[in-house]
Amino acid sequence: MLDQKLKELREQMEQRLNQVDSREKLSAFWQDFLGKKGSIADLMKDLGTVSKEDRPAMGKVINEFKVQAEQRYQEYSERMEKLEMAARNRAEQVDITLPAKKHPTGNLHPITLVKNQIIDVFLGMGFEVFEGPEIEDDDHNFTRLNVPKDHPARDMQDTFYISEDVLLRTHTSPGQIRVMDMEKPPIKVLVPGRVFRSDSDATHSPMFHQMEGLVVDKGITLCDLQGMLDKFVKQIFDADVRTRLRPSYFPFTEPSVEVDVSCFECGGKGCSLCKHTGWIEVLGGGVVHQNVLRNCGIDPEVYSGFAFGIGIERITMLKYGINNMGLLFENDLRFLKQFKD
Ligand code: PHE
Repeated sequence: MLDQKLKELREQMEQRLNQVDSREKLSAFWQDFLGKKGSIADLMKDLGTVSKEDRPAMGKVINEFKVQAEQRYQEYSERMEKLEMAARNRAEQVDITLPAKKHPTGNLHPITLVKNQIIDVFLGMGFEVFEGPEIEDDDHNFTRLNVPKDHPARDMQDTFYISEDVLLRTHTSPGQIRVMDMEKPPIKVLVPGRVFRSDSDATHSPMFHQMEGLVVDKGITLCDLQGMLDKFVKQIFDADVRTRLRPSYFPFTEPSVEVDVSCFECGGKGCSLCKHTGWIEVLGGGVVHQNVLRNCGIDPEVYSGFAFGIGIERITMLKYGINNMGLLFENDLRFLKQFKD
């Protein structure tokens, strides 16, 4: 009887195991066969009905079956674990062939780029950077720069007035006054900034950028200006570029000069960039007028200096071959992205 039961149980066990495809089914298998009220426990109870002589042998057979059932359970448990792990791995799989997400970064505006390059060159020569206000008073923008109220030179710069005495600075030169009010020579500063003039056409914008330079010390001459600017243009444009000074006029410098560079496009032979002259005008400057030094409490008998003003748009356009100034202010990304380095 028990023999027969055991044989059936063996077959049932294999059938049940064949159907196991989840943890739940495996647990149910344990309950039904190895649990306290399971089939094997029942068999043990039935052992009481077996004759005394047969009982040890039968007990042994049932025990062996129990060990076997436990082993089979263990096997299936491990198999389940492997299957689960494989399923988890499959679910968490990363497709490394997928193109990466792009994180687009911006870049500096060409004017900022050139401004930084210019500052770098002069920092290398020992200059410091100072920034003044964009809203200025007449005093700093004109009067103390040797341009009194009725001076015709005021017409050179179409000014945006806020009131009779307050205006948008027309150049970075008021920075000279502010620096000389604060510091005594030796002075070596750069004043970058936005400037404003009521002027707008293909080559003029009502807002543009300048970089002022000012050096004041004992024994400074026009030669120092030319030497430094020569170094500057060689670093910004090309090592072969030469400079030339032409006489000019600014009320706050005497003598005043326009600085030209030999055309870096044609090497001076003449082309459309230099309008067939071989030279390109890049900036204005000169020896600081004695009145300006005096207006800042600096004795012109002891000290002298030079100053220059660089148009940053102009340098940017020359350097990158940009023929339309509007491009610098339209914020068209197709244009601006070309300056990504
Ligand atoms: N401020 C002058 C301008 O805007 C440039 C300049 C600066 C000239 C310093 C001489 C010295 O045109």
